[in-house]
Amino acid sequence: MALPARCIYVKQPWWRLLLSSSILLLLSPLSRSDESSPALRHRSSNSSSSMNDDISPCPSPEANSVMDNRSGTGTGRPIIGIVTQPSNGLRDRLRRRGEDATVAGEDVSTIAASYVRFVESGGARVVPVRYDASEDEWEYLFNSINGILFPGGAMFLEGGSPYMRAHEFFVRRAMKAFDQGDYFPVWGTCLGFEAIVDVISGDYSLIRQSHFNDSNHPSNLSFDRTHKPIQCSRMFRPLMAHPHADCRHESGPVGAMNGRHDVSAPDPGLWSFLSPTILQVLENAKVVYYNHERGINLTTWESTPSLMEFFDVLSTSRDKNGVDFVSTIESRRYPIYGVQWHPEKNAFEWSPWLDIPHSSDAVRVTQYLALFLANEARKSSHTFPSRKAEFASLIYHFPSIMTADAEHKYTFEQLYLVRARNHTKGSSSTAEREGHLPNGDALIA
Ligand SMILES: *[C@@H]1O[C@H](CO)[C@@H](O)[C@H](O)[C@H]1NC(C)=O
Ligand SMILES: *[C@@H]1O[C@H](CO)[C@@H](O)[C@H](O)[C@H]1NC(C)=O
Ligand SMILES: *[C@@H]1O[C@H](CO)[C@@H](O)[C@H](O)[C@H]1NC(C)=O
Ligand SMILES: *[C@@H]1O[C@H](CO)[C@@H](O)[C@H](O)[C@H]1NC(C)=O
Ligand SMILES: *[C@@H]1O[C@H](CO)[C@@H](O)[C@H](O)[C@H]1NC(C)=O
Ligand SMILES: *[C@@H]1O[C@H](CO)[C@@H](O)[C@H](O)[C@H]1NC(C)=O
Repeated sequence: MALPARCIYVKQPWWRLLLSSSILLLLSPLSRSDESSPALRHRSSNSSSSMNDDISPCPSPEANSVMDNRSGTGTGRPIIGIVTQPSNGLRDRLRRRGEDATVAGEDVSTIAASYVRFVESGGARVVPVRYDASEDEWEYLFNSINGILFPGGAMFLEGGSPYMRAHEFFVRRAMKAFDQGDYFPVWGTCLGFEAIVDVISGDYSLIRQSHFNDSNHPSNLSFDRTHKPIQCSRMFRPLMAHPHADCRHESGPVGAMNGRHDVSAPDPGLWSFLSPTILQVLENAKVVYYNHERGINLTTWESTPSLMEFFDVLSTSRDKNGVDFVSTIESRRYPIYGVQWHPEKNAFEWSPWLDIPHSSDAVRVTQYLALFLANEARKSSHTFPSRKAEFASLIYHFPSIMTADAEHKYTFEQLYLVRARNHTKGSSSTAEREGHLPNGDALIA
C-alpha cells in the first residue's frame, strides 16, 4: 500500500528536521537549554550522517499482509481513559498565589493536561477515570473505552489504597479480557509504571524501599537493538530498520499474540515520517526526561521472577549516581506498557525551573509514543452504550486551571479538575451515563 511513499519519505526528513528544529529554537526561548547543549549542537551540525544510519529499506510485501490480518476489529475512534489523582496541595499552591482556592476543594481530583494532550496528539480522545469511583463505574468505563493511561505524579503507592485499587482493577481486567480474546492497552508513565510493577509483582515494597537520585534529569535510554525481544517488541519494532524477520514463533511479546492481534510487522505507512532515527535519538541524545525518586534497579528486577516472566525490559537507564534501573517495559503477552520516564513532557510541559528537553528530536519521541498508544487503542472494540453516553464522559466537559506560575516553582502548566465521586452521591450513576452529568458547575466545589 504505502510502500513507494515510504521509500521516498525516509530519504527526506532530515532536511525538514533541520528546518523545523531551527524554527523551534528561534521561536522558543525555553528551548535554550537544548540549544546550548554541546551534544545536541554537535548532532544538528552533523545530522546528515547520523540521521541516515537507520534509514530502512522498504519492508517486504509479506510483512504487510500480516498487518492486514487485524482488519475488521478495533475502532477508528479510540478513547483512552486517564486515571485522576487526589489534588494534594493544589489548594495551598493556589492560596499562595492569592487565588481562589475553593476550586481545589478536597473533593477535586486532577489530571495534568499534558497527559490529555499526549493522548489527543496521537489521535485519541480522553475520558477521565476517577480514582475513587466504584468498581461498577470502572467496569462500565472499561467496557466503553479502548485503553487506559496511569499518569505520573508524586504519591506514595500503597496496596489497597483507593488510588491503587483503580490501577489494580484495570490491570487485572485488561489481562482477563485479553485472555478471552479482547484487547485493552494499559500504559503507565513514571508513577504509573511503578503502579504496574506493584500490581504485577504483588510486592509494593520493591518500589517503596527504592531510592534513586533522578529528579529533573534529562538523559537517554540504553537498549540492545539486536536483542530479539526488543526487535520483536510492539513498542520498538516499528522503529527498527532491520527488524527480526519473524517474531511469530517468539514465545515472548508478539508470538503470544493471536492472529487477530498480530503486530509482528512494522507498519510502514503509519510510522514512516517519524521512525528512521528515533531509536538513535533515544540512545544518544538527552531527549528522555526523568523525574522520579523511586523505581526498580536491575538487581531487584532480576531477582523478582514474577516481573521477569511477565515483562520484557526494553530499556534501562542510569540515574545521576550511576545506578541502573529498568526504564521501559512491555508485557510479553498482554498489551501492558510502562515507562519510568516522561514522553508527554517534551512537548507539553514548560516549567522554566525544570530541564525538560524540547528539541525537535525530543518532540518526535513524544509524537511517536502518542501515535503508538493511540494505535494500540485502535485495536480495541469497546464502545459506550450510546453516543450520548460517550459524549457525556469526554474530557471536554471538564474545567482546567492554569498552574504555571511566573514566580514560583511549578511542575505542570495546567490541570484538569474532576470532581471526586464521594461528592456526587445525590446523582444516580444511571443519570450520568445518560448524559445529565458531568457538567462544568457540578465539577468544581
Ligand atoms: C561528524 O561525525 C563524525 C563521526 O561521528 C565526526 O568524526 C565528525 O567530527 C563530525 N563532524 C562535525 C562537523 O561535527
Ligand atoms: C470516600 O468516602 C468514604 C466514606 O466517607 C471514605 O472512607 C473514603 O476515603 C473516601 N474516598 C476518597 C477517595 O476520598
Ligand atoms: C537495588 O534495590 C534494592 C532494593 O531497593 C536495594 O536494596 C539495593 O541496594 C539496590 N542495589 C543497587 C545496586 O542500588
Ligand atoms: C491470520 O491469522 C490466522 C489465525 O488467527 C492465521 O491462520 C492466518 O494465517 C493469518 N494470516 C496471515 C496473512 O498472516
Ligand atoms: C546513555 O546512557 C548510558 C547509561 O544508561 C550511558 O552509559 C551512555 O553514555 C549514555 N549515552 C549518551 C550519549 O549519553
Ligand atoms: C545527586 O546527583 C547530583 C548530581 O550528580 C549530585 O550533585 C548529588 O550529590 C547527588 N545526591 C545524592 C544524595 O547522591
